[in-house]
Amino acid sequence: MTAAQTLPNTMRALLVRETGWPNRMQVAEVPRPAAQALDADSVLVRVRAAGLNFADTLSIAGSYQEKQQLPFVPGAELCGEVAAVGAGVQGLQLGERVMGQVGAGAYAEWAVVHKDRLARVPAGMPDTQAAGFYIPYGTALCALRERGRLAAGETLLVLGAAGAVGLAAVQVGKALGARVIGVSRSPAKREAVMQAGADAFVAWSSGDLKDALGKAGVDPGVDVVLDMVGGDASAAAMRCLNFEGRLVVVGFTSGQAPALRANHILVKNIDIVGCYWGPYQQLRPVQTRRAFDTLLAWYGAGLLRPQIADSVPLEGVAHALEQLACGAYAGKVVAQISIPSGASE
Ligand SMILES: NC(=O)c1ccc[n+]([C@@H]2O[C@H](COP(=O)([O-])OP(=O)(O)OC[C@H]3O[C@@H](n4cnc5c(N)ncnc54)[C@H](OP(=O)(O)O)[C@@H]3O)[C@@H](O)[C@H]2O)c1
Repeated sequence: MTAAQTLPNTMRALLVRETGWPNRMQVAEVPRPAAQALDADSVLVRVRAAGLNFADTLSIAGSYQEKQQLPFVPGAELCGEVAAVGAGVQGLQLGERVMGQVGAGAYAEWAVVHKDRLARVPAGMPDTQAAGFYIPYGTALCALRERGRLAAGETLLVLGAAGAVGLAAVQVGKALGARVIGVSRSPAKREAVMQAGADAFVAWSSGDLKDALGKAGVDPGVDVVLDMVGGDASAAAMRCLNFEGRLVVVGFTSGQAPALRANHILVKNIDIVGCYWGPYQQLRPVQTRRAFDTLLAWYGAGLLRPQIADSVPLEGVAHALEQLACGAYAGKVVAQISIPSGASE
């Protein structure tokens, strides 16, 4: 373990004492993760900002696939400074800015992150962008390039296109050379989706999506569907797929995992693939590093432009998550958690 001196023993954090939604999550003073107790592969990060994620609402409600033991500090995504590194971590300097993902614990002044779930923050990327970059862009690239095999010249349809992953996917799809169609329930989110670089936007919530695309003057034949919504939307989007199209399952903001007809899958030679970015990083560390090399090069070239819908203090996270669960935002919401730099252990 490498670290300096005198870190505080406690920290401010959001604490979930009982699951449920709306929840009684509160800001509390809790023990700080000890630098001396770091695993060999872990990094202690002084958190500057955290990204809000739809999955937080599920985790806090106790309905997420990865269960947390009560009480727990929620939050999956952060940026901050390296404060200490485990014995097996190489190449990271104390004070260096990093962004990353954790199973829980991002809504706190300090967090422990596995070395395979971290990337350096490029100079010039503000904390607000860095706090909300790792999960949406990592997921979008993994889903489109590794799982969906999206190729230049193909057409991508993004369900939930104005969400954090959706807007990232629009930009990643364009960077991969695809024609991109963004779908949202809300016509008011057109601007955000078009600003992200979509070739077309369609406001749709139910009924025949292929028909809705046609009526909007959009060629409805698509090669890849990126599905953040689930439920009836998945089947409606699958009907838009071309021969040998791919449906990439990412999330279920509708609250329902879809039931899809095998005969439809068969007749068009469709691939249905899942993308779960969380475990992917540790199971596929080489591909994960390659993904961030690509993403940060695209960011540097101006191809990725994270849209920040709001920035809230720790005390505002619960309300913002409620809004997010209702689909109120277009883009990413982040929590500002900075504490004065300089303390060390
Ligand atoms: N598999 C993975 O590794 C992975 C990684 C990250 C996220 N996810 C999942 O992907 C999904 C999207 O995440 P996100 O961060 O982009 O969330 P987000 O920013 O909250 O965006 C979700 C979008 O889903 C739409 N939506 C919300 N409620 C809906 C409903 N009841 N019916 C239909 N559409 C609804 C909204 O779009 P409109 O209001 O514009 O229609 C909203 O913009 C979540 O389920 C999340 O858990 C999965």
